[in-house]
Amino acid sequence: MPRFSFPIRVKVLLTVLMLIMIVMSLNTSTMAGLFRSDKTAYIRDLTVVMAIHTAEEADALLRNYVANMQAFGDVIYDTRMDPETKQDVIQSLFRNYQDIVAITAQRGDSDPVTAFDTNELTRLEVSRETLLQYRDQHPLPAGTPWELELKMENIKEGVGLLRLFIEVPATESRQAFVLAANIKPARLAAVTTRSRGFAVSILDSNGQPLFQKGAISENHATHWANRANSKSGNAIGTAIEFVEDGVPMIGAFAPIANQALLATIQVPSSVVYVSARDLLSNLKVVALLLFAVAAIASLIFARRLSKPLENLTEAAERVGKGQFEVSVSSTSGDEIGVLSRSFNRMTDELRERDAKLAGANAALVQSEKLAAFGQLGAGIAHEVKNPLAGILGYAQLALRKLDSDSPIKKNLAVIESETRRCTEIISNLLQFARQESGKMEPTDVNAVVDAALQIVDHQLGVNNVRISKELAADLPSFDANANQLQQVIMNFAINAQQAMGSEGGSLVVRTRRGDAGTVIIEVEDDGPGVSEDVRGKIFEPFFSTKPAGQGTGLGLSVTYGIIKDHGGEVWVEDAPGGGARFVVSLPGTRAQAA
Ligand SMILES: Nc1ncnc2c1ncn2[C@@H]1O[C@H](COP(=O)(O)OP(=O)(O)OP(=O)(O)O)[C@@H](O)[C@H]1O
Ligand SMILES: [Mg+2]
Repeated sequence: MPRFSFPIRVKVLLTVLMLIMIVMSLNTSTMAGLFRSDKTAYIRDLTVVMAIHTAEEADALLRNYVANMQAFGDVIYDTRMDPETKQDVIQSLFRNYQDIVAITAQRGDSDPVTAFDTNELTRLEVSRETLLQYRDQHPLPAGTPWELELKMENIKEGVGLLRLFIEVPATESRQAFVLAANIKPARLAAVTTRSRGFAVSILDSNGQPLFQKGAISENHATHWANRANSKSGNAIGTAIEFVEDGVPMIGAFAPIANQALLATIQVPSSVVYVSARDLLSNLKVVALLLFAVAAIASLIFARRLSKPLENLTEAAERVGKGQFEVSVSSTSGDEIGVLSRSFNRMTDELRERDAKLAGANAALVQSEKLAAFGQLGAGIAHEVKNPLAGILGYAQLALRKLDSDSPIKKNLAVIESETRRCTEIISNLLQFARQESGKMEPTDVNAVVDAALQIVDHQLGVNNVRISKELAADLPSFDANANQLQQVIMNFAINAQQAMGSEGGSLVVRTRRGDAGTVIIEVEDDGPGVSEDVRGKIFEPFFSTKPAGQGTGLGLSVTYGIIKDHGGEVWVEDAPGGGARFVVSLPGTRAQAA
């Protein structure tokens, strides 16, 4: 059963993506963590700063009110001023200190004195009687020494004003007295509305919220009052983390007017996470983009990596099917490039070896074919040889017995000469089939060449063939049959002459040492050369391109038989001038008569 496996491209892609994801998630979580702790510290600092700032603002406002009230007190208890002037001064004070609507002063056990801003009361639709009634229902606290107290009270249904008490201490010229002012709350309330994200409140001395901005639970007031009263060291200027109605909060507080009031500020801790969450979702977009880019990049990279491997696989498959003509491109310098180059070298070698093998195979087939021819020819020759000798003998005998003018003498002469020719062919055939092996003796190849050329010299000369010899001087003498070698060279020379025709040409006979102690004989002409289709059959018996009666086609086959007999090789190749070059390679030692 074939096992499923991912292609290398997908593996690389997955690896790269996984690495990127790990790096990115580490990065993101670190960033988010850092951001969160940084943001937490920032929020804590901010709550403290805001609490102090709110308290300072309220403080300044209250101090201003106190100063204004003292100015009223000074006028009310001024003994040197006549009542009318006093009335005028008080009304002008109301005009200057617009937040103060009414003010009540009381000294010791004497009756309280109340002054009020007539215009403002009219605007609030509060009558003088209502105000006085309210005053009587809300007597000034007496007896306990206190500095300042602030409350929210309704002068009448629906008209809430701040009530600020102060005690003005005695001086040398004056008794101590108490002042209570009814103040419009808007400006103090505004102090709590400055921030947008934070819940701000101002608590009175009882811990009740005077003003607040943002949703504040019931627990809220108690919580802060307890904190402000406790001496457990929750110092001003320190941010506190606590849970209010199950919601984690960060908050801070600061006292106003010597602990008379308390400014508190708080924000759910989750604001920190909100920003971190925003950051994370932004990062997610960036991560997605990065991811896409990385995916594309690693796809391209993986393709570049796996493509050469795929090419190699495909090429290897083709080589497996015996197609050695493949080569893979190897542009890269990495291991795959090295592998590709090795692969190409391998196919080159395989190709070379294949060609050699094919050549060797063809040679083997050829040699077997020739051996079969030889056997057949030898069999026929053997059977025909004796009858031919008989025909020749009787023809010669008959010739001798006939008169010189006999008309059949001419015919008998033809029979004799043709029988001789047959005998010659038969002996050639037997030689090719190595049925008649010659005697081997130490032989000087150069001498054999000289002798052979001397014999054919006349025939070549009349046919305009120029002979040149290039004979190596250092050839070893080795065992060979000189007569047979001579015949070989003569065959080559005659064939060359015949190939070059009546115009003639040049013939070069060369001897030299070959590799591994061999002796090489080359016979080269500048005739038409041997065509590709003829080349394969040239050493076969009876193969001839010459017209019938001119060539038997046995010359080269006999040559082949002789050279094989000497343990050598013979072949034909193209000469540089376009003609044919016959090459014989003989072992320079004693030839092996196989
Ligand atoms: N030097 C050469 N140039 C061109 N072709 C050649 C050459 N030598 C031989 N051949 C070709 O090889 C054939 C066979 O030669 P081979 O010597 O065996 O027979 P032949 O010359 O035709 O006849 P034979 O030698 O028996 O008289 C020739 O017919 C010729 O076509
Ligand atoms: Mg010939």
